[in-house]
Amino acid sequence: MATILDGKALAEKVKQEVRKEAEGLSRKPGLAVIIVGNNPASRVYVNSKRKDSEECGFLSEEYALPEETTQETLIALIEKLNARQDIDGILCQLPLPKGIDEEAVLMAISPEKDVDGFHPMNMGALLVGKEGFLPCTPYGIMEILQEYSIDPKGKRCVVIGRSNIVGKPMALLLLQQHGTVTVCHSRTQNLAEVCRTADILVAAVGKVNMVTADMVKPGAVVIDVAMNRNEAGKLCGDVDYTAVQEIASAITPVPGGVGPMTRAMLMKNTLLAAQKRQG
Ligand code: GUN
Repeated sequence: MATILDGKALAEKVKQEVRKEAEGLSRKPGLAVIIVGNNPASRVYVNSKRKDSEECGFLSEEYALPEETTQETLIALIEKLNARQDIDGILCQLPLPKGIDEEAVLMAISPEKDVDGFHPMNMGALLVGKEGFLPCTPYGIMEILQEYSIDPKGKRCVVIGRSNIVGKPMALLLLQQHGTVTVCHSRTQNLAEVCRTADILVAAVGKVNMVTADMVKPGAVVIDVAMNRNEAGKLCGDVDYTAVQEIASAITPVPGGVGPMTRAMLMKNTLLAAQKRQG
Protein backbone atom coordinates (compact mmCIF):
# COMPACT_ATOMS: atom_id res chain seq x y z
CA MET A 1 0.00 0.00 0.00
CA ALA A 2 1.25 3.43 -0.96
CA THR A 3 2.11 6.25 1.42
CA ILE A 4 -0.55 8.93 1.05
CA LEU A 5 1.10 12.26 0.28
CA ASP A 6 -1.01 14.54 2.47
CA GLY A 7 -1.10 17.86 0.63
CA LYS A 8 -3.81 19.18 2.89
CA ALA A 9 -1.73 18.86 6.05
CA LEU A 10 1.38 20.28 4.37
CA ALA A 11 -0.65 23.22 3.01
CA GLU A 12 -1.79 24.07 6.54
CA LYS A 13 1.83 24.07 7.67
CA VAL A 14 2.90 26.31 4.77
CA LYS A 15 0.07 28.76 5.43
CA GLN A 16 0.93 28.96 9.13
CA GLU A 17 4.54 29.76 8.25
CA VAL A 18 3.40 32.37 5.72
CA ARG A 19 1.13 33.97 8.31
CA LYS A 20 3.94 34.14 10.86
CA GLU A 21 6.33 35.74 8.38
CA ALA A 22 3.66 38.16 7.15
CA GLU A 23 3.15 39.35 10.73
CA GLY A 24 6.79 40.45 10.79
CA LEU A 25 6.39 42.80 7.81
CA SER A 26 5.77 46.53 8.21
CA ARG A 27 2.74 46.24 5.93
CA LYS A 28 0.32 43.36 5.26
CA PRO A 29 0.90 41.55 1.95
CA GLY A 30 -1.88 42.53 -0.46
CA LEU A 31 -3.41 40.14 -2.99
CA ALA A 32 -5.88 41.25 -5.69
CA VAL A 33 -7.86 38.51 -7.42
CA ILE A 34 -9.78 39.24 -10.61
CA ILE A 35 -12.57 37.02 -11.90
CA VAL A 36 -14.40 37.71 -15.16
CA GLY A 37 -17.75 36.10 -15.95
CA ASN A 38 -19.68 33.29 -14.32
CA ASN A 39 -17.57 30.13 -14.55
CA PRO A 40 -18.75 28.14 -11.49
CA ALA A 41 -15.41 26.34 -10.99
CA SER A 42 -13.57 29.67 -11.12
CA ARG A 43 -15.96 31.07 -8.52
CA VAL A 44 -15.13 28.19 -6.15
CA TYR A 45 -11.38 28.68 -6.67
CA VAL A 46 -11.60 32.44 -6.12
CA ASN A 47 -13.62 31.99 -2.91
CA SER A 48 -10.94 29.62 -1.62
CA LYS A 49 -8.18 32.09 -2.47
CA ARG A 50 -9.97 34.80 -0.51
CA LYS A 51 -10.34 32.48 2.48
CA ASP A 52 -6.64 31.53 2.33
CA SER A 53 -5.60 35.20 2.07
CA GLU A 54 -7.62 36.09 5.12
CA GLU A 55 -6.21 33.11 7.03
CA CYS A 56 -2.73 34.35 6.23
CA GLY A 57 -3.55 37.85 7.46
CA PHE A 58 -3.27 39.45 4.01
CA LEU A 59 -5.09 42.41 2.56
CA SER A 60 -7.44 40.62 0.18
CA GLU A 61 -9.29 42.32 -2.67
CA GLU A 62 -11.59 40.70 -5.18
CA TYR A 63 -12.72 42.19 -8.48
CA ALA A 64 -15.68 40.34 -10.00
CA LEU A 65 -16.27 41.67 -13.51
CA PRO A 66 -19.21 40.79 -15.76
CA GLU A 67 -18.92 38.32 -18.67
CA GLU A 68 -19.14 41.13 -21.23
CA THR A 69 -16.11 43.01 -19.84
CA THR A 70 -13.78 44.18 -22.61
CA GLN A 71 -10.09 43.41 -22.73
CA GLU A 72 -9.36 47.16 -22.46
CA THR A 73 -11.37 47.49 -19.23
CA LEU A 74 -9.67 44.44 -17.76
CA ILE A 75 -6.19 45.65 -18.67
CA ALA A 76 -6.99 49.13 -17.32
CA LEU A 77 -7.87 47.51 -13.96
CA ILE A 78 -4.63 45.52 -13.98
CA GLU A 79 -2.64 48.67 -14.68
CA LYS A 80 -4.31 50.42 -11.76
CA LEU A 81 -3.41 47.46 -9.51
CA ASN A 82 0.15 47.41 -10.90
CA ALA A 83 0.53 51.01 -9.66
CA ARG A 84 -0.92 50.38 -6.16
CA GLN A 85 1.66 50.39 -3.37
CA ASP A 86 -0.46 48.21 -1.06
CA ILE A 87 -1.02 45.43 -3.63
CA ASP A 88 1.84 42.92 -3.92
CA GLY A 89 0.18 40.19 -5.95
CA ILE A 90 -2.30 40.25 -8.83
CA LEU A 91 -4.04 37.15 -10.10
CA CYS A 92 -6.48 36.94 -12.96
CA GLN A 93 -8.47 33.71 -12.72
CA LEU A 94 -8.42 31.64 -15.92
CA PRO A 95 -10.13 30.80 -18.18
CA LEU A 96 -11.25 34.22 -19.41
CA PRO A 97 -14.42 34.68 -21.49
CA LYS A 98 -14.17 34.32 -25.29
CA GLY A 99 -12.99 37.48 -27.01
CA ILE A 100 -10.39 38.32 -24.37
CA ASP A 101 -6.80 37.56 -25.32
CA GLU A 102 -5.48 35.64 -22.32
CA GLU A 103 -1.86 36.19 -23.26
CA ALA A 104 -2.31 39.97 -23.53
CA VAL A 105 -3.95 40.01 -20.09
CA LEU A 106 -1.24 37.92 -18.44
CA MET A 107 1.43 40.12 -20.08
CA ALA A 108 -0.22 43.21 -18.56
CA ILE A 109 0.40 42.01 -15.00
CA SER A 110 3.65 43.44 -13.70
CA PRO A 111 6.16 40.54 -13.43
CA GLU A 112 6.95 41.72 -9.87
CA LYS A 113 3.29 41.14 -8.91
CA ASP A 114 2.73 38.01 -11.02
CA VAL A 115 2.16 35.60 -8.11
CA ASP A 116 0.72 32.98 -10.49
CA GLY A 117 4.08 32.88 -12.28
CA PHE A 118 2.37 33.00 -15.69
CA HIS A 119 4.09 36.08 -17.16
CA PRO A 120 6.62 35.21 -19.90
CA MET A 121 9.31 36.96 -17.81
CA ASN A 122 8.76 34.53 -14.93
CA MET A 123 8.34 31.55 -17.28
CA GLY A 124 11.59 32.54 -18.98
CA ALA A 125 13.35 32.91 -15.64
CA LEU A 126 12.35 29.33 -14.80
CA LEU A 127 13.59 28.10 -18.16
CA VAL A 128 17.08 29.55 -17.65
CA GLY A 129 17.19 28.82 -13.90
CA LYS A 130 16.99 32.44 -12.68
CA GLU A 131 14.93 33.65 -9.74
CA GLY A 132 11.28 34.45 -10.43
CA PHE A 133 7.80 33.44 -9.36
CA LEU A 134 7.12 29.74 -9.86
CA PRO A 135 3.67 28.61 -11.05
CA CYS A 136 1.83 27.48 -7.93
CA THR A 137 0.86 23.91 -8.92
CA PRO A 138 4.31 22.61 -9.92
CA TYR A 139 5.85 24.61 -7.04
CA GLY A 140 3.45 22.87 -4.63
CA ILE A 141 4.29 19.45 -6.08
CA MET A 142 8.02 20.09 -5.56
CA GLU A 143 7.25 20.99 -1.93
CA ILE A 144 5.32 17.74 -1.47
CA LEU A 145 8.24 15.73 -2.89
CA GLN A 146 10.66 17.53 -0.59
CA GLU A 147 8.46 17.07 2.48
CA TYR A 148 8.40 13.31 1.89
CA SER A 149 12.13 13.15 1.03
CA ILE A 150 11.45 12.09 -2.56
CA ASP A 151 14.46 13.31 -4.52
CA PRO A 152 14.04 13.47 -8.32
CA LYS A 153 17.83 13.34 -8.77
CA GLY A 154 18.70 10.67 -11.32
CA LYS A 155 15.12 9.38 -11.37
CA ARG A 156 12.99 8.80 -14.44
CA CYS A 157 10.20 11.37 -14.32
CA VAL A 158 7.24 11.29 -16.69
CA VAL A 159 4.84 14.24 -16.90
CA ILE A 160 1.55 13.69 -18.77
CA GLY A 161 0.33 17.06 -20.04
CA ARG A 162 2.16 19.97 -21.60
CA SER A 163 0.21 23.04 -20.49
CA ASN A 164 1.98 26.30 -19.70
CA ILE A 165 0.44 26.23 -16.22
CA VAL A 166 1.40 22.71 -15.14
CA GLY A 167 3.09 20.33 -17.58
CA LYS A 168 5.85 22.50 -18.98
CA PRO A 169 6.92 24.17 -15.71
CA MET A 170 6.65 20.81 -13.90
CA ALA A 171 9.08 19.27 -16.38
CA LEU A 172 11.50 22.19 -15.92
CA LEU A 173 11.42 21.97 -12.11
CA LEU A 174 12.04 18.21 -12.14
CA LEU A 175 14.90 18.79 -14.58
CA GLN A 176 16.31 21.50 -12.30
CA GLN A 177 16.35 18.87 -9.54
CA HIS A 178 18.31 16.54 -11.85
CA GLY A 179 15.46 14.26 -12.89
CA THR A 180 15.50 12.56 -16.29
CA VAL A 181 12.29 14.00 -17.66
CA THR A 182 9.89 12.90 -20.40
CA VAL A 183 6.81 14.96 -21.28
CA CYS A 184 3.84 13.07 -22.75
CA HIS A 185 0.74 14.53 -24.40
CA SER A 186 -2.26 13.66 -26.55
CA ARG A 187 -0.10 12.66 -29.54
CA THR A 188 2.32 10.49 -27.56
CA GLN A 189 2.61 6.99 -28.92
CA ASN A 190 2.75 4.04 -26.52
CA LEU A 191 1.76 6.23 -23.57
CA ALA A 192 1.35 3.28 -21.20
CA GLU A 193 4.80 1.98 -22.04
CA VAL A 194 6.41 5.39 -21.45
CA CYS A 195 4.55 5.82 -18.15
CA ARG A 196 5.73 2.40 -16.96
CA THR A 197 9.33 3.69 -17.09
CA ALA A 198 8.55 6.39 -14.51
CA ASP A 199 9.91 6.46 -10.98
CA ILE A 200 7.93 9.67 -10.56
CA LEU A 201 4.73 9.96 -12.61
CA VAL A 202 2.84 13.26 -12.77
CA ALA A 203 -0.61 13.24 -14.38
CA ALA A 204 -2.06 16.58 -15.41
CA VAL A 205 -4.60 15.82 -18.12
CA GLY A 206 -8.14 16.17 -16.78
CA LYS A 207 -9.55 12.77 -17.73
CA VAL A 208 -11.07 10.39 -15.17
CA ASN A 209 -9.18 7.09 -14.71
CA MET A 210 -6.79 7.71 -17.60
CA VAL A 211 -3.85 6.44 -15.54
CA THR A 212 -4.58 2.80 -14.86
CA ALA A 213 -2.59 0.35 -12.75
CA ASP A 214 -0.91 -1.24 -15.79
CA MET A 215 0.68 2.14 -16.58
CA VAL A 216 2.44 2.38 -13.23
CA LYS A 217 5.76 0.75 -12.33
CA PRO A 218 5.63 -1.02 -8.93
CA GLY A 219 7.06 1.34 -6.33
CA ALA A 220 6.57 4.52 -8.41
CA VAL A 221 5.59 7.86 -6.88
CA VAL A 222 2.32 9.02 -8.45
CA ILE A 223 1.23 12.67 -8.43
CA ASP A 224 -2.32 13.41 -9.55
CA VAL A 225 -2.89 17.05 -10.52
CA ALA A 226 -6.36 16.80 -12.00
CA MET A 227 -9.69 17.85 -10.49
CA ASN A 228 -12.38 15.94 -12.38
CA ARG A 229 -15.86 14.84 -11.52
CA ASN A 230 -16.80 11.24 -12.24
CA GLU A 231 -20.20 10.05 -13.46
CA ALA A 232 -21.51 10.09 -9.89
CA GLY A 233 -20.39 13.72 -9.54
CA LYS A 234 -17.62 12.78 -7.12
CA LEU A 235 -14.34 14.75 -7.22
CA CYS A 236 -11.51 12.64 -8.62
CA GLY A 237 -8.21 12.95 -10.45
CA ASP A 238 -6.66 11.36 -13.54
CA VAL A 239 -5.45 8.28 -11.69
CA ASP A 240 -7.43 5.12 -10.95
CA TYR A 241 -6.65 5.66 -7.30
CA THR A 242 -8.02 2.42 -5.83
CA ALA A 243 -5.97 0.19 -8.13
CA VAL A 244 -2.84 2.35 -8.35
CA GLN A 245 -2.43 2.81 -4.57
CA GLU A 246 -1.84 -0.96 -4.37
CA ILE A 247 1.32 -0.75 -6.48
CA ALA A 248 2.69 2.77 -6.06
CA SER A 249 5.07 3.57 -3.19
CA ALA A 250 3.43 6.98 -2.68
CA ILE A 251 0.41 8.76 -4.14
CA THR A 252 -1.42 12.08 -3.82
CA PRO A 253 -5.15 11.77 -3.11
CA VAL A 254 -7.81 13.85 -4.88
CA PRO A 255 -9.05 15.85 -3.09
CA GLY A 256 -6.44 16.63 -0.44
CA GLY A 257 -3.24 16.26 -2.47
CA VAL A 258 -2.01 18.78 -5.02
CA GLY A 259 -5.00 21.18 -4.85
CA PRO A 260 -4.44 22.53 -1.33
CA MET A 261 -0.72 22.92 -2.06
CA THR A 262 -1.44 25.00 -5.18
CA ARG A 263 -3.43 27.38 -3.00
CA ALA A 264 -0.77 27.45 -0.28
CA MET A 265 1.98 28.29 -2.78
CA LEU A 266 -0.06 31.25 -4.01
CA MET A 267 0.07 32.57 -0.45
CA LYS A 268 3.80 31.88 -0.33
CA ASN A 269 4.36 33.72 -3.63
CA THR A 270 2.34 36.69 -2.36
CA LEU A 271 4.45 36.79 0.79
CA LEU A 272 7.63 36.64 -1.32
CA ALA A 273 6.33 39.47 -3.53
CA ALA A 274 5.62 41.60 -0.45
CA GLN A 275 9.03 40.84 1.05
CA LYS A 276 10.80 41.80 -2.18
CA ARG A 277 8.77 44.97 -2.61
CA GLN A 278 9.40 46.01 1.00
CA GLY A 279 13.12 45.45 0.51
N1 GUN B 1 -7.32 28.47 -13.52
C1 GUN B 1 -7.04 27.20 -13.17
N2 GUN B 1 -5.93 27.16 -12.41
C2 GUN B 1 -5.52 28.44 -12.27
C3 GUN B 1 -4.43 29.04 -11.58
O1 GUN B 1 -3.59 28.40 -10.95
N3 GUN B 1 -4.36 30.39 -11.67
C4 GUN B 1 -5.25 31.12 -12.38
N4 GUN B 1 -5.07 32.44 -12.43
N5 GUN B 1 -6.26 30.60 -13.02
C5 GUN B 1 -6.39 29.25 -12.96
